[in-house]
Amino acid sequence: MKIGTVTAFSLALALAALPAVAPAAGNAENGKKIVEAKNLGNCAACHVIPNMEFPGDVGPDLVASMQGFTEKDRGTVRQWVWDARAFDPDTIMPPFGPNKLLTNAEVDDVVEYLYSIQKK
Ligand code: HEC
Repeated sequence: MKIGTVTAFSLALALAALPAVAPAAGNAENGKKIVEAKNLGNCAACHVIPNMEFPGDVGPDLVASMQGFTEKDRGTVRQWVWDARAFDPDTIMPPFGPNKLLTNAEVDDVVEYLYSIQKK
């Protein structure tokens, strides 16, 4: 337990020091908290996500979106969350990575959460 915490902490530090790169395994439970927090992801301001009241409809329903992604698209999903301008220069989705709204480790957690809401 103690070793696990220390390892996770070191990993988070290592990831935070790196620029946007390859996706790493994240923590879906923490990702859910980030996605729902108004001061972090606040994704429901624009997207339909499970269990959130009064979702926005500015962006696509993320449960539906995730059905279009497979495990090999993890890098693409990560890029969407890190900086959506890579796909749409005029997007209104905030560039969570470059604007330092979320760290690398937090983006990996969000991606893990997105895969967890995929309808199987
Ligand atoms: C200010 C509104 C806004 C916020 C906040 C926002 N998004 Fe988006 N997002 C959009 C829009 C609009 C699109 C559609 C793509 C575009 O802009 O061209 C999009 C697209 C996406 C896509 C690609 C969907 C697809 O079908 O390809 C993903 C994944 C995504 N958003 C995840 C998130 C996550 C996770 C969060 C929270 C961390 C978030 N978004 C926060 C507006 C937003």
